[in-house]
Amino acid sequence: MSEILKARNLTKIYSLGGLFSRTKITAVDRISFSIQPAEIFTLAGESGCGKTTTARMILGFEYPTAGELLYEDQNLVELRDKKAWFKKVQAVFQNPFETFNPLRKVEDYFFETIQNFHLDKNERETEELIEEKLQAVGLSLCDIAGKYPGELSGGQLQRASIARSLLTNPSLLIADEPVSMVDASLRMSVVNLFRKMCDSFQVSVIYITHDLATAYYISDRIAIMFRGHIVETGPVDQVLENPKHPYTKLLIESIPQPDPQIPEKAAIQFLEEKEEYLRKGCKFSGRCPEVMEICKQQVPEDTSLDGTVVKCHLYQK
Ligand SMILES: Nc1ncnc2c1ncn2[C@@H]1O[C@H](COP(=O)(O)OP(=O)(O)OP(=O)(O)O)[C@@H](O)[C@H]1O
Ligand SMILES: [Mg+2]
Repeated sequence: MSEILKARNLTKIYSLGGLFSRTKITAVDRISFSIQPAEIFTLAGESGCGKTTTARMILGFEYPTAGELLYEDQNLVELRDKKAWFKKVQAVFQNPFETFNPLRKVEDYFFETIQNFHLDKNERETEELIEEKLQAVGLSLCDIAGKYPGELSGGQLQRASIARSLLTNPSLLIADEPVSMVDASLRMSVVNLFRKMCDSFQVSVIYITHDLATAYYISDRIAIMFRGHIVETGPVDQVLENPKHPYTKLLIESIPQPDPQIPEKAAIQFLEEKEEYLRKGCKFSGRCPEVMEICKQQVPEDTSLDGTVVKCHLYQK
């Protein structure tokens, strides 16, 4: 089957400090990836590496500065029928209490989506459609009927948000840190829903997270981002069990150990983000334990290795 979406050398440049400022950062720097039908593709990396910017370009909230986003071999930016794309791609955001206006009933969002996309049939069929999607996430219309967002828990509200995103039968869900605001004890059950949605509705998911543990659990493939670049990508078990890029290794080592006997290894040091973005050569060279002279001069090429792609001079022929 063909890809749902292809990104080719996708790039976003921001001017810092206003429109006429000379300082520019390449928040997303020539990244390429494709999304297969019914797979979970994770974008992971620390704060400020370009994950949300990538999502916003796919959702049409930002224009790419360069590169392409192809949907059925058409460039998204030039797509005439944008509404067809917006029906195919839906978003689940980080904070469900921001997604839903506190003064509007949760069910209104469902009816509104149905109207916006002209999915409405008669009243009974509309309710059946909503009920079907709510049941898929472990809720029912009775749970949300007449309720305002404040009357539901964070976990319930995030489930409702996922159910709403499914109304249009999308091919792609973009979930940007969907559980970071959900109570820790409920996180895994919400994350698991994405796997379930992927398997039962054949919807692909771009899962955006800092959290490699949940990513490992639900993803098929993963891309590790650092300061705008994808530094390593491939099947999730391959990348996380046998990491090649020194940054991927550092990220894995800095996952807090649940056992207090094991000291936390190399907690990630937060360097000045902008300084790293503006760095010549490999953006990670300032923190890399295996840095070489060439790393400070040249951005490494992508190298294919054991089914993964790594952007690192260590592996370049
Ligand atoms: N509208 C904007 N104008 C200028 N710079 C921006 C803008 N949006 C994002 N940036 C910068 O682009 C870089 C990437 O930001 P982005 O929000 O994509 O990161 P992220 O990986 O989603 O981070 P987080 O994990 O904190 O959500 C950051 O340095 C950020 O400050
Ligand atoms: Mg973000």
